[in-house]
Amino acid sequence: MISHAAGAQADVEIRRLNVDDLDLFRDIRAEALQMHPQTFGSPEEDDGGEPMMAAYRRWLDGMILGAFRCGSLMGVAGFYVSPDRRSQHRGNIFTVYVREEGRGKGVGDRLIKELLAHAEARVEQVHLAVLLESTAAINTYKRNGFEIYGTDPAAVRIGEATYDKYFMVRKSAAKAVPHGCPAWSRQNRRGWLRIIGLNGGTARLNPFALPVFPRQYAGKTTMRTGR
Ligand SMILES: CC(C)(COP(=O)(O)OP(=O)(O)OC[C@H]1O[C@@H](n2cnc3c(N)ncnc32)[C@H](O)[C@@H]1OP(=O)(O)O)[C@@H](O)C(=O)NCCC(=O)NCCS
Repeated sequence: MISHAAGAQADVEIRRLNVDDLDLFRDIRAEALQMHPQTFGSPEEDDGGEPMMAAYRRWLDGMILGAFRCGSLMGVAGFYVSPDRRSQHRGNIFTVYVREEGRGKGVGDRLIKELLAHAEARVEQVHLAVLLESTAAINTYKRNGFEIYGTDPAAVRIGEATYDKYFMVRKSAAKAVPHGCPAWSRQNRRGWLRIIGLNGGTARLNPFALPVFPRQYAGKTTMRTGR
């Protein structure tokens, strides 16, 4: 059995990549694209050349972690939050790849753990999409608290073949906030019971009673309207 203990990859250093790592990143991503075309790819990479390099510079300006052994880049994993104001509570994991010779030693697991530590302070939930057949990746994500919430049928087509993907999410308990509608807590139940005068099982209208709303909902009267 493969150990995920710290000792299994104690010689691996994980650090944030930046634009100075552009060549290293381009090389490992080129390998990932070639080995797993069903998993990786973007319109900029289809175009190649300057559009692709511009995309990589943008990614490296954001949050891409690299795992190094003896100075060689052996794995990467990235995280981003969409600029859409309505999606600021969600983050996304992408470009998760460990070179074949480094696999099964817990490097992928460590990359994901460090990305999640970064995400924890910023978002309430982290999303990703993964091919159904990527068992090693799915195991790594499940081990780190992700669960499958849906399937994207024929998410990718290459030639005649189509590939489904799972959508996975990891929700953070720490960042959960109340939605626009207040929860039916004991405190606001007491408030409503006082308004209608329902005390000890006797129903009568109580015109003098004032509603007692939980303080945490003061001023929060908006409803969420999804579109
Ligand atoms: C997914 C991936 C990043 C995992 O990296 P890793 O460093 O091998 O990850 P870990 O060592 O933490 O564990 C991966 C799982 O695969 C298992 N595994 C066993 N032998 C393995 C091998 N030779 N190669 C890869 N994984 C192996 C591990 O035991 C572990 O499973 P477990 O949870 O049941 O113990 C890597 O396999 C990879 O790059 N795959 C191809 C690209 C890909 O699918 N990326 C995900 C995109 S969403």
